[in-house]
Amino acid sequence: MFEKILEKYPSSPRGFYGLAQSLDVLAEIKKSNELLEEAITNYLKVSELKNVPAALYKIALERCIDRMRFRGRYGKAVAVHLKLIDSFPEEPKYRNQLAVTYLTVGRIEQARSVLKQILQKWPNNGCALVHYGFIWKTTNNNLEKGVYFMQKGIDTKDPCVIDGRFYFHLGDAYSRLGDTEKALAVYEDGVKHKLFLSKYQRSLYNVPHLTAKPWWRQHQIPSYQSLFKDLENNWEIIRREGLSVLNQHGYFQDESENLRDTGDWKQFELFARGSKNSKNCNKTPLTCKLIEKHLEARDCRRGQTKFSVMHPGTHVWAHCGPTNCRLRVHLGLKIPPHCFIRVAEQIRGWEEGKLIIFDDSFEHEVWHNGTEVRLVLIVDVWHPELSMTEKATLSSL
Ligand code: LMR
Ligand code: MN
Repeated sequence: MFEKILEKYPSSPRGFYGLAQSLDVLAEIKKSNELLEEAITNYLKVSELKNVPAALYKIALERCIDRMRFRGRYGKAVAVHLKLIDSFPEEPKYRNQLAVTYLTVGRIEQARSVLKQILQKWPNNGCALVHYGFIWKTTNNNLEKGVYFMQKGIDTKDPCVIDGRFYFHLGDAYSRLGDTEKALAVYEDGVKHKLFLSKYQRSLYNVPHLTAKPWWRQHQIPSYQSLFKDLENNWEIIRREGLSVLNQHGYFQDESENLRDTGDWKQFELFARGSKNSKNCNKTPLTCKLIEKHLEARDCRRGQTKFSVMHPGTHVWAHCGPTNCRLRVHLGLKIPPHCFIRVAEQIRGWEEGKLIIFDDSFEHEVWHNGTEVRLVLIVDVWHPELSMTEKATLSSL
């Protein structure tokens, strides 16, 4: 019908918008990228016509950007953002949207400069404030500026600022600055907004209704007994392989998520996101063979299996993993005295040849106050209450 309308009225903005919407819906139903590209082309046509009502121009181009982002066409999306900004220079929303696209593709400096411009014109724009603070905290590790701008943004209560990522990083910045009281207030506020499962469990990629507790015991997970036994029975073989890689220079890699306060903490990855690292597994073949027998670990696309080495004098900031879909099993391999891990409110240590099991979506913190290296094997496993369908369809992390 819209095609017919366009035959009669070849420059009808509503005609093109209707055609684009139809193609958009059809693309969704048929899972067709080709149709989606056609939809995008027609959304764009709306913006090229004369006398387009402002409201139509806006919804057409916003949807166009949304679909371009979905297709990964960020470069093209930037051009559409600029059209919107050009047409509506007094609406900060369109500039914020551009900043989000820049952030998504890692063009941090461009994002920062757009946000800075917004804040020069609209110093109390919540959306710009939280994003600007987020950049200072996460890319520059500037905790003070992170706190200043994120807090000021969150205080505006604009819908845009009610987002787990900002509450997560604002609380973290307070915590690292030593203000645990303020951190806790932010986390509790986050729980009220349903951004976190609880004040201690602050993962952002969650499945609802999974049993949530910081520490687990082997007997509480009957279906994983075979893995647990295999790990404990073979701990000396696993230790030998781990130590042999540790003794060769340059295989263990620095922890990369900026979680370390002091010291030295490195990892040697065997499986990640459900894929085997064959190059590394060639160096520790028996450990990898053992893991491969156990699908709860081998196929855990929301976790890793890795050796973790921690040197004396290390402190790892309190932090939460990304998801409640996994439990983290540690096999103690080389455990000197004075090494501790806190998960939520309970502190424990490791023992050589023994497992500890915790849910790393809960806040945890690690100290090595000893004098020799500590080595553990970390094995992430699917949360035992996930269904087969969930395990098959959840995105990797
Ligand atoms: C963590 O998950 O952050 C720590 O338990 C890692 C480690 O090596 O102790
Ligand atoms: Mn951790």
